[in-house]
Amino acid sequence: MTRTLFTPIRLRDLEIRNRLWVPPMCQYSALGLDGRATSWHLMHYGALARGGAGAIIVEATGVVPEGRISPTDLGLWDDAQRDALVPIVELAHAQGAAIGIQLAHAGRKASTHPEWGTDGSGSLRADEGGWQTVGPSAIPFPGLGAPVALDADGIDQVVEAFAAAARRAVEAGMDLVEIHAAHGYLLHEFLSPLSNQRTDEYGGSLENRARLLLRVVDAARAVIPAGMPLLVRLSATEWVDGGFDLEETGQMGRWLGEHGVDLLDISTGGNITPAPIPVGPGYQTPAATSVRAASGLPVGAVGMIDEPFQAEQILATGLADVVLVGRALLRDANLPLHAARALRVDDPYIPAQYRRAHR
Ligand SMILES: Cc1cc2nc3c(=O)[nH]c(=O)nc-3n(C[C@H](O)[C@H](O)[C@H](O)COP(=O)(O)O)c2cc1C
Repeated sequence: MTRTLFTPIRLRDLEIRNRLWVPPMCQYSALGLDGRATSWHLMHYGALARGGAGAIIVEATGVVPEGRISPTDLGLWDDAQRDALVPIVELAHAQGAAIGIQLAHAGRKASTHPEWGTDGSGSLRADEGGWQTVGPSAIPFPGLGAPVALDADGIDQVVEAFAAAARRAVEAGMDLVEIHAAHGYLLHEFLSPLSNQRTDEYGGSLENRARLLLRVVDAARAVIPAGMPLLVRLSATEWVDGGFDLEETGQMGRWLGEHGVDLLDISTGGNITPAPIPVGPGYQTPAATSVRAASGLPVGAVGMIDEPFQAEQILATGLADVVLVGRALLRDANLPLHAARALRVDDPYIPAQYRRAHR
């Protein structure tokens, strides 16, 4: 019997071996502070590929230096950063996984202490290597420094930077590109009326708040091959009144489809704190299902989908088209192999080197 989790999925020309994917997860391990991937990234993404994931989306990668969350984030604004990704792409492909990258600009949530490796939290001071952040409006995220509102030239430069990074992702051999428009980072900040209080053509109506993201999508689509999938991660609700909500996300999804996006990776939150987020198993899946219906696009569900049967049910009952499993895969990169066994799917991913262990 075909189990949905292990049914391949095709997006444009890309065939992906299963529907259990790795969502982008910052490693804060560009320890040279130069945005370049290190041996940690090679080991980490290689292990996830070997563990049987269908597609791996490399962590949020800054399209400009000031778009990094922290100084140890990956970047893709120069060719050396591109070249450092090539061995990771080759290793993932050798293990049968598809690999893409999440292109990001952290906006008003940039210039923070990484999650580990320093004693501090919140914004970095200038003498700690911090920098001036930017946003749609000069409204700070609670606890962080105030951003400077981007002017028209600054907005154009953001669009160009996403396009240049997308071109480098293609050159590095990536199979897909994901634009990060979730979690309170720059593109989400523009979408939300709570962080975007502009009075120009980028603020006010949903059409205006959506303008930057659609420009970024058009610019990325223009430089990636026609056969390559383009994904967008959205926060489908901010869990507070007056924010970018499910209804607006549905409309956004329709526009993104018209602009050549192939799958929406549906998360929530991140732009407003505190927010009453009902964290629990599968808590974001209803949002994915709703956006799927409203947009007509395939969607990925993410958020505490930790168990094989839970993931299988989401797919088998049509709640989403793929599932992305984050922290559970950090605990055990071989989770997809265990899931295949639990679902009684023949394990197709045993490398020849390990076959003696499986006789
Ligand atoms: C260590 C870590 C780093 C993360 N970094 C990113 C990121 O770079 N981009 C992003 O969109 N989400 C990021 N997330 C969120 C995950 O992609 C995912 O949406 C979230 O962890 C919920 O899924 P889970 O319950 O399966 O872990 C991160 C999560 C973790 C645990």
